[in-house]
Amino acid sequence: MNIEEVKSTVKTQRISAHSHIKGLGLDENGVPIPIAAGLVGQENAREAAGIVVDMIKSKKMAGRAILMAGPPGTGKTAIALAIAQELGSKVPFCPMVGSEVFSSEIKKTEVLMENFRRAIGLRIKETKEVYEGEVTELTPVETENPMGGYGKTVSHVIIGLKTAKGTKQLKLDPSIHESLSKEKVEVGDVIYIEANSGAVKRQGRSDTFATEYDLEAEEYVPLPKGEVHKKKEVIQDVTLHDLDVANARPQGGQDILSMMGQLIKSKKTEITDKLRTEINKVVNSYIDQGIAELVPGVLFIDEIHMLDIETFTYLHQALESSIAPIVVFATNRGRCHVRGAEDIISPHGMPMDLLDRILIIRTLPYSKQEMTEILKLRAQTEGLSIDADGLTKLSEIGAQSTLRFAVQLLTPANLTAKVNGRSSISKEDITEVGSLFLDAKSSARLLSQHRDKFMK
Ligand SMILES: Nc1ncnc2c1ncn2[C@@H]1O[C@H](COP(=O)(O)OP(=O)(O)OP(=O)(O)O)[C@@H](O)[C@H]1O
Ligand SMILES: [Mg+2]
Repeated sequence: MNIEEVKSTVKTQRISAHSHIKGLGLDENGVPIPIAAGLVGQENAREAAGIVVDMIKSKKMAGRAILMAGPPGTGKTAIALAIAQELGSKVPFCPMVGSEVFSSEIKKTEVLMENFRRAIGLRIKETKEVYEGEVTELTPVETENPMGGYGKTVSHVIIGLKTAKGTKQLKLDPSIHESLSKEKVEVGDVIYIEANSGAVKRQGRSDTFATEYDLEAEEYVPLPKGEVHKKKEVIQDVTLHDLDVANARPQGGQDILSMMGQLIKSKKTEITDKLRTEINKVVNSYIDQGIAELVPGVLFIDEIHMLDIETFTYLHQALESSIAPIVVFATNRGRCHVRGAEDIISPHGMPMDLLDRILIIRTLPYSKQEMTEILKLRAQTEGLSIDADGLTKLSEIGAQSTLRFAVQLLTPANLTAKVNGRSSISKEDITEVGSLFLDAKSSARLLSQHRDKFMK
């Protein structure tokens, strides 16, 4: 199995509407602080989410599922993303939307399986041959570009490394120069270079450079002990999906095929069930030998009512497996049909047997005051200024329709404010855009008034 060059395949998150959320905002006893970490109100759901985070961290949750249920715009997606923030970057969090499973090219269950594996982490401990130390010298040596043309290229890099026991000067390949600049290595940093792969890892700044009055958030590390060239235990965090991808990639050295592979960047590679079984086998033996540790993360499936009976059954079965993440569902549906089984009406559009094994967290509609606070936060993160009257008007609109609609009015209102020569959004701007755009409820009212004039 190839674990040398595993690249992370973390999905980019749908957070643009939630960029103000930094965590669950709980105190040290797990009790929600009314306004903290970008979250306002919704105290019960946040406290419950905090308990879930604790259970995930103590690994008591794997293979279980949570459902966030509540009316639209009550912060279900927001709280799920806050859970991700609380878990930190070492625990995998894979967000997806129910409708993602419907693709004409890939099987529904395949999409689910891929995301399942993105949500299961593996922490691998390996002993590697490394060069480690504080950088005392870093000089790229340049020569004329051998291809002709202007400019110079780096022919090699001279780097000096110092430990408590000695110093060493290394002459390195130019490709390592790139990794050095990618990690932003400077003289005075403590780094290690893997002897086999040439991968560079910056560990922090040497603590001999620490001053008493440092404002920067820099991590200081002690000067490494031992020799510069040594064996070291290296920890790598990957997901099962990372391993699938790394091992599915066509292998080989500098042949034409791999050159092509570099040219066609977004080349799709096939991950087969056979490959997965193979990888699971290796992973299990790594776990038995104590080289690797399983880190069950979170699979977040938003808009769960979009899934159909087939995918629900598959999910139910996958949750039973020994390697399973924690699944967090979210939906704003009450009782409705389960897709693909139109004769079954069930709470939240989910089959009863699956619903039975799930813990449900409720989110409730916001008070006007809470809405005002959330809108204030949103305006701040978008860099908009809004006066007190504007804010009141906007939260009134939010109370009549939904919070999401009110949040969405902020940007157009800012535009009309600019057109009218104002630097901050006022009540008039809100009224103006409020009359130009409709929310779902008023649009439905319009629809029923003019039903006969719409296309059938
Ligand atoms: N308690 C809160 N504190 C701060 N911001 C919030 C809070 N609740 C919701 N928001 C913000 O309000 C907007 C709507 O919330 P969100 O998208 O989480 O609702 P939802 O419950 O997922 O709705 P839907 O059912 O329509 O998916 C988002 O921009 C979100 O970040
Ligand atoms: Mg949502």
